[in-house]
Amino acid sequence: MANRTCDVVVIGGGPGGYVCSIRLGQLKQKVICVEKEEVGGVCLNWGCVPSKALIAASHTYEKVKDHGATMGIMSKGLEVDSNKMQDWKAGIVKKLTGGVRGLFKGNGVELVMGNARVTGPRTVEVKNAEGAVETITATKAIVIATGSSTIEIPTFKFDGKQVIGAREAVSLREVPKRLLVIGGGVIGLELGMVYQKLGSDLTVVEATGSLLPGVDPECTAVVEKKLVKNGAKVIKNAMAKGYEKNADGSLAVKVEMGPHVSVGTGQAGGGKFDTIVTDVVLVAVGMRPNGGGLGLEEIGVKVERGFVPADIVGRTNVDGIYAIGDVSGMPMLAHKASKEGEVVAEVIAGHKAAKDWVSIPAAIFTDPEIATAGLTEAQAKERGIEVRVGKFPFAALGRAMAVNETEGFFKVVADKKTNELLGVHIVGPEASDLISEGALALEMHAFLEDLGMTIHPHPTLGEGMMEAAMSGLGHAIHILNRGAPPLTS
Ligand code: NAI
Repeated sequence: MANRTCDVVVIGGGPGGYVCSIRLGQLKQKVICVEKEEVGGVCLNWGCVPSKALIAASHTYEKVKDHGATMGIMSKGLEVDSNKMQDWKAGIVKKLTGGVRGLFKGNGVELVMGNARVTGPRTVEVKNAEGAVETITATKAIVIATGSSTIEIPTFKFDGKQVIGAREAVSLREVPKRLLVIGGGVIGLELGMVYQKLGSDLTVVEATGSLLPGVDPECTAVVEKKLVKNGAKVIKNAMAKGYEKNADGSLAVKVEMGPHVSVGTGQAGGGKFDTIVTDVVLVAVGMRPNGGGLGLEEIGVKVERGFVPADIVGRTNVDGIYAIGDVSGMPMLAHKASKEGEVVAEVIAGHKAAKDWVSIPAAIFTDPEIATAGLTEAQAKERGIEVRVGKFPFAALGRAMAVNETEGFFKVVADKKTNELLGVHIVGPEASDLISEGALALEMHAFLEDLGMTIHPHPTLGEGMMEAAMSGLGHAIHILNRGAPPLTS
């Protein structure tokens, strides 16, 4: 194969790498993006996008099945066709990955399919599926955007059918009768709830004392309550140790209970073992960064536990080598990867840019959704900041009633002295969309007054943000605030 030269080689075509490549192309750089599986990476192909399609489908099904009659929508013979659902989902993925390929073409980005290895500060070797090898020289920079991979538990080796990871879980063509999820984190709850809605009997085994560790516990409590109300067993402070296959093909999973066992199990706990019988186990205990095995250490690039640390402009410790996305550090979120990709593209093209954002919002697509930006109440207090908290329930919003989804609340955290907004936490319908207003407010260093005095259209769910801010100031109209001080005080 002919050897080639370009300005920049981007290794990895996920939301970090493809965005970086496109921006570099827009900036008239000669870019080659190397991808070993499919452009779009985990997010577009096996993660964010397919899971959201399944979440939407299962939510629609549940809404019609369980709540349709409340709204006067009577359904008969409602059923799930998993094959059709999967085909629909696959169509969305195909459109999006096709879109990325189109954007590459339009911006002059060359896509090379193959496995890349860095062989020098400016050289990359690519081996394609047929085993052919070519060397690409990048005159300006190499960008590492190799993402992360699912962590496997040694006693739960993936078999693709009964012991699976998120990648297989978004492609099931049959709804498991019983599903046991190991790990009550983001993936475990998002996909666990999908199959719960589609009919699976769900058990969640979580090692720590709370689901979604790190998320505002008041928000998590709303989701946990709904999980359990819908029949799930949630076992916290518990570790899945291993499994045996029963004669009928089901799996007997051995779980070690911790010192304290929580809701839904009816068990007292106390360091004992229990066996849970299931048909499918979904392992969702986190992701591991893909910084190893790329040849980076050999040329002096620092790699720490799989991460390739990068500074505020995305540079690693070796000149000309940059890292973005999951592989460069936490949080492992697609939108953080994309923004880092844009920053690094600007820097490589000689412009001023930096990762100087105030917050990286996060959206968790459980039912109801949770979305957060900025500090939680606990984090602000840990930093010695005296806080003012404003809360407003979805149940008090006309629009929430009109869409028949009234669980959850808005919570704003502000500095008590100045009223500057420090964090926004939403649990409820469309939280993932509503959080962007909070993220913008944080980016603009807004005060509670800015959020509360901005006119929000009626009737919308967004009014909850305004009311929560006003509640922080003691002024919210649609919850009791008798004796509230004047707005100008
Ligand atoms: P996670 O870190 O969110 O959750 C893993 C959970 O597993 C934790 O609660 C942990 O305590 C628990 N755990 C670990 N070992 C265990 C064991 N042996 N037994 C029982 N529980 C155990 O990881 P997850 O859910 O796999 O997600 C991976 C990454 O993907 C995360 O970094 C997340 O940010 C990202 N992601 C983000 C999404 C979003 O933003 N909506 C959606 C899906 C994934």
